[in-house]
Amino acid sequence: MIQVERLQLHHVRDFLQWGVHEDPLLKIYNFEEKESTLEDWYRWKTGGKMDVYFAILLDGLAIGYMGLKDIKKIARRGTLGIILDKNHMNQGLGTEAITWLMNYAFYKMHLNRVDLEVLPWNQLGIHIYKKLGFQTVGRHRVRAVVPLVIDGVVLEEERPRFVEVIQMRLSKDRWSERIEI
Ligand SMILES: CC(C)(COP(=O)(O)OP(=O)(O)OC[C@H]1O[C@@H](n2cnc3c(N)ncnc32)[C@H](O)[C@@H]1OP(=O)(O)O)[C@@H](O)C(=O)NCCC(=O)NCCS
Repeated sequence: MIQVERLQLHHVRDFLQWGVHEDPLLKIYNFEEKESTLEDWYRWKTGGKMDVYFAILLDGLAIGYMGLKDIKKIARRGTLGIILDKNHMNQGLGTEAITWLMNYAFYKMHLNRVDLEVLPWNQLGIHIYKKLGFQTVGRHRVRAVVPLVIDGVVLEEERPRFVEVIQMRLSKDRWSERIEI
């Protein structure tokens, strides 16, 4: 069972022990900082006034972080982001963490809607978001550092390029209506 705390610099030190994605399409989720850059990364991540970030803890170790970004208080919206240590993926922890965060977003922050963007090849991510009630609302072109992969073959190394991400959305009403995940 996970614990959740507001993200602090000491949590970020644990990220240095995380597993590394070798799959070129998932490298974008690697934590690539070094001891010397941790503080800068932490200040950059947590410096925004419209963002709130949390550490996901397992047995006292930070095995992930998640947040609500671009929070719009008047419109009551925010955007979900989450990354787990590769070594702790697919063990039910992401479902637990996002469930906590949606309860926080809808019942503590009183948001009415949470949005997210997910890369089209992130099948695990898409599955879990749909399972939790998110619905696809569109597609959107963003710039991301990814390789060019066709039929599983890397044709070009990663560099900034345009990719089409899937936009998903969960309303408070839909979250409140769900029976059991
Ligand atoms: C996305 C992420 C937060 C999900 O958390 P998680 O703990 O790995 O997910 P869970 O173990 O709770 O759930 C995994 C589900 O996906 C399913 N799954 C696993 N691999 C899958 C695949 N290749 N395709 C589809 N579904 C898959 C599992 O069967 C499970 O489904 P179930 O709960 O219906 O049985 C986590 O994997 C992660 O951090 N990934 C890397 C970063 C990332 O993708 N962040 C999100 C960016 S939008």
